[in-house]
Amino acid sequence: MPLQDTLGRPLKNLRLSVTDRCNLRCLYCMPEEHYTWLPREDILSFREIGDLVDVFCDLGVDKVRITGGEPLVRRDLPVLIADLARKPRIRDLALTTNGVLLADAAVELKRAGLGRVTVSLDTLRPERFLALCRQDELPRVLLGIEALARAGFARTRIDSVLLQGTNDDEILDLLDFGQQAGAEVRFIEYMDVGGATRWSPDAVLARAEVLRRIEQARGPATPLEAEPGEESAPARRFRLADGTVFGVIASTTTPFCATCDRSRLTADGTWYLCLYARQGIDLKTPLRQNASRAELARAISAGWEARADHGAEERLELRERAPPHARPALEGDPRLEMHTRGG
Ligand code: GTP
Ligand code: 5AD
Ligand code: SF4
Repeated sequence: MPLQDTLGRPLKNLRLSVTDRCNLRCLYCMPEEHYTWLPREDILSFREIGDLVDVFCDLGVDKVRITGGEPLVRRDLPVLIADLARKPRIRDLALTTNGVLLADAAVELKRAGLGRVTVSLDTLRPERFLALCRQDELPRVLLGIEALARAGFARTRIDSVLLQGTNDDEILDLLDFGQQAGAEVRFIEYMDVGGATRWSPDAVLARAEVLRRIEQARGPATPLEAEPGEESAPARRFRLADGTVFGVIASTTTPFCATCDRSRLTADGTWYLCLYARQGIDLKTPLRQNASRAELARAISAGWEARADHGAEERLELRERAPPHARPALEGDPRLEMHTRGG
């Protein structure tokens, strides 16, 4: 009998944050000047990550996504990827990156056995990229996306967070860019999550509006059935008459908690059962105290079996929606941040 939480959801999808550091400062994710970082000595080694992943696979995990921060700033990341790629129970091994360091890494990542890559890209205009991500790195990101196809990656995705009044005039340009680059674009609603201290309801571009604008310019967008094994994926996918396929991730207006099979491990080995959870489960301490595989499995099973989280749905029920955490709380616990628990 597979492991299930209190709402009958299986444990399938593990997001591994390999660092809390990032080389960009996107305003929807890291709007502040200063951050509290995880202590270096708390960061799990590749060996420790691999050992935990084995236990998660024992309990049903078959999808692993490497995230950050920016995962490519973690030194020797391809070594970890090669370790994970050798685990046959992981049927889908993916990476989410901002693309800045991708051009030089793509071939090595492919050789290490990485399955697919999702690149975050919210604008195609250099000056806007600088304003939104606060580094002048658009050219390197574009080179990184080009390098993926050359290195032999297929099923590449581009994730674009849409902010009303900031980049919502680029929906069609981003769609066209994805088509040319051979990547599926997914538009993401701006979420009131983690350290999104500038979030406001007015800045959210809801899925219905994204679809309305696309359909107005390009004709009907036909909803696609989820592919087998992808029924719990957050994106709803659509096809246009010209064959372009795109997705919309409507975490803010239409949460998908009912089918959520994902959990996240921070770089310091804290296991979160929901993107919005206030508390995580410390797996680093037992791991470093040489807990056996069976003991770790018991801790993880007990955590998952007690899981009742549906954070995005709870946010939807709030009468007044505002950024979830004030700065002192974020400074006191960096794991509340989206960049620490993996976007
Ligand atoms: P695949 O379906 O395997 O490609 O993965 P994914 O869709 O989870 O990929 P990705 O890491 O690109 O996530 C895209 C975005 O979806 C994130 O940046 C978040 O905005 C949103 N998202 C991801 N996971 C969750 C989650 O657990 N809860 C909510 N509410 N939103 C999420
Ligand atoms: N809203 C939506 N997505 C976010 N991300 C980070 N912060 C937010 C937020 N407030 C996700 C996006 C982005 C990735 C780096 O993290 O998917 O592409
Ligand atoms: Fe899963 Fe929590 Fe995100 Fe809902 S809010 S989809 S339960 S991680």
